[in-house]
Amino acid sequence: MTQQPSTPGQNSPVTVVGLGPMGLALAAALMEKGHPTTVWNRTPAKARDLVARGARLAPSAADAVAAGPLTLVCLKDYAALYEVFGSARAAAVAGRALVNLSSGTPNEAHAAASWAAERDFAYLDGAVMVPPPLVGDPGSVFLHSGPREVFDAHRDTLASLGDPRYLGADPGLAVLHNAALLGLMYATMNGFLHATALVGSAGVPAAEFADLAVNRFLPTVVDAALVEAAPDLDAGHYPGDLGTMEMNLNALEHIALTCEEQGVHAGQPRLMRDIAAQAVADGHGGSNYLAVFEVFRKAAAR
Ligand SMILES: NC(=O)c1ccc[n+]([C@@H]2O[C@H](COP(=O)([O-])OP(=O)(O)OC[C@H]3O[C@@H](n4cnc5c(N)ncnc54)[C@H](OP(=O)(O)O)[C@@H]3O)[C@@H](O)[C@H]2O)c1
Repeated sequence: MTQQPSTPGQNSPVTVVGLGPMGLALAAALMEKGHPTTVWNRTPAKARDLVARGARLAPSAADAVAAGPLTLVCLKDYAALYEVFGSARAAAVAGRALVNLSSGTPNEAHAAASWAAERDFAYLDGAVMVPPPLVGDPGSVFLHSGPREVFDAHRDTLASLGDPRYLGADPGLAVLHNAALLGLMYATMNGFLHATALVGSAGVPAAEFADLAVNRFLPTVVDAALVEAAPDLDAGHYPGDLGTMEMNLNALEHIALTCEEQGVHAGQPRLMRDIAAQAVADGHGGSNYLAVFEVFRKAAAR
């Protein structure tokens, strides 16, 4: 492949372990930016194109890690991490930095950080917040958490993949943010899909509704309001002078009834109605709708 002119950090060798769609994109972006790239995958055939473009295929995961100072791990889950590195010779991998970009939970990230410490890996957890085709774009966000010095030592190399954000020393913070942002993504997509099904019950085409919903309604009524509301969430301040929880409960009831009338799945609005009803039962009937935040964050104590 054609290597780009080098800039600081670009000549640093990098290893990528795991060549699913995301690992392939990581390795391709690193090669594009001029990093000598070593790869390893359980199914070696998936490395064929990368090798043809100049990547080195290591014979084992331990050999792959030993090839350079930094290894990006991008496997299905944390269980695969242990399966891949469980038998790695400690001497070959000690002192290397391992950045785990596999999906998981905060508890799994904490356990992986302890596992890495026992093996003398410098461990940084992480999460990729874009799909494979966007890896390598300067605006693509990568989240990282763990020891600051590990992030700082490899920041320039990580910047070859996009915009690396350091969230803090707690290794669980990256996957916690990942779960929060993906939850937001699924809730938003489901909100749009459900609304489109509702108007679709009267024959309205999705393309027509998308313009009204996504280009007009969301930016003015939802997006801006949420950014403005964030300080109130931190302060637990929910003045109901422009609209109360009781009023919103009524609106949610009407959405659920409309779904039932139109023969559209009513599970989502019913769940939102139940959460608002809980907020009313908790004494927030006169607060504004943001008080459902109290229901969400106090669920563990309930
Ligand atoms: N694709 C996306 O849009 C996207 C976006 C953001 C984050 N991610 C995250 O990135 C990670 C990788 O995702 P992906 O899309 O590349 O595909 P994936 O299907 O989640 O993971 C595939 C990779 O995991 C390996 N693997 C699975 N089980 C294994 C095991 N028991 N032992 C060894 N290797 C094992 C596969 O090896 P084989 O090739 O040998 O099967 C392959 O390298 C995931 O945690 C995913 O959540 C993906």
